[in-house]
Amino acid sequence: MTDPQANGKGSRRPTSWWLTMLRRRAERMYEEELDLSEPIRFSSAAERDAALAFFNAAFRAEESGLSQAHALAAQVASWDPDLAECLRLYGDEEGWHRSLLTRFLAHIGGEVRPMGRVTGTFYRAYARAERADTIVLTNLMFETIGSTTYRLALRRATHPAVRQMLTILTRDESFHVPLNVHFLRETLRHSGGSGAGAVAARLRLDALYHLLFVALVGSSAASRRRALAFDHIPFKELSTAYAEHLARLFLHERDLRFVPSSALLRALGLDRDALARSEDLSAVSVEAAERAVDRASVTVSAL
Ligand SMILES: [Fe+2]
Ligand SMILES: [Fe+2]
Repeated sequence: MTDPQANGKGSRRPTSWWLTMLRRRAERMYEEELDLSEPIRFSSAAERDAALAFFNAAFRAEESGLSQAHALAAQVASWDPDLAECLRLYGDEEGWHRSLLTRFLAHIGGEVRPMGRVTGTFYRAYARAERADTIVLTNLMFETIGSTTYRLALRRATHPAVRQMLTILTRDESFHVPLNVHFLRETLRHSGGSGAGAVAARLRLDALYHLLFVALVGSSAASRRRALAFDHIPFKELSTAYAEHLARLFLHERDLRFVPSSALLRALGLDRDALARSEDLSAVSVEAAERAVDRASVTVSAL
């Protein structure tokens, strides 16, 4: 039997393909600089505050992504050294984003703030997760809503430095989504089995998918309170976009067997079968991975 991943496309590429791409990206990553020569003038204190909230949230996501990827790399090294190397290089990309965001926050007159109560509780719980499949599933869902948010914000952003920061994040997260699909497929394959323990683990993972789906779509309400004055994305548009992308990604990656609730999607005005049939032409499509490999040749479009 031939391995279906041997010559796959998009997220179905083998680990060796991802490793080559990540190494190629790493060679030139640090050459790219933010152009912060022009000061950013906000129209009001509220807009500046909202920008600080927006980029602080981005900073925390990068920080968490970096530490989880490197912790996972250490865990995976014993059974797949190449996959571990992919995780390490992926974590380095998040670390690079974190350093760009640190500079960017200083440029807009802010700093990295302590996390709020809810955010802090969430990230501490996530940091305690130990199972590789749990960590990767959570991370993949975060990458999906991250790239969706950046892309929607990019549509409305006008200042060149803000556009550059959002463009870098959108472009790279668009590569991270299918990369994390690959990580999830590999960790599921490794943790799979047929005993009662494996069945229970799978049920827990399914429950986590549905829980995170609701929590992430719901998180758009809290983020509207803090960031709306900066990104101008209405609640309805953001929450629907989260549900759409979180659903379509998994409907297309059918073998992972995470199926979004059709009742929940209907309540949000979305049709599961239509999503399954529709093509995703945005940055979060798996095909975007190949386009995003060579950063210089990527054209990032707003949602
Ligand atoms: Fe990132
Ligand atoms: Fe990422």
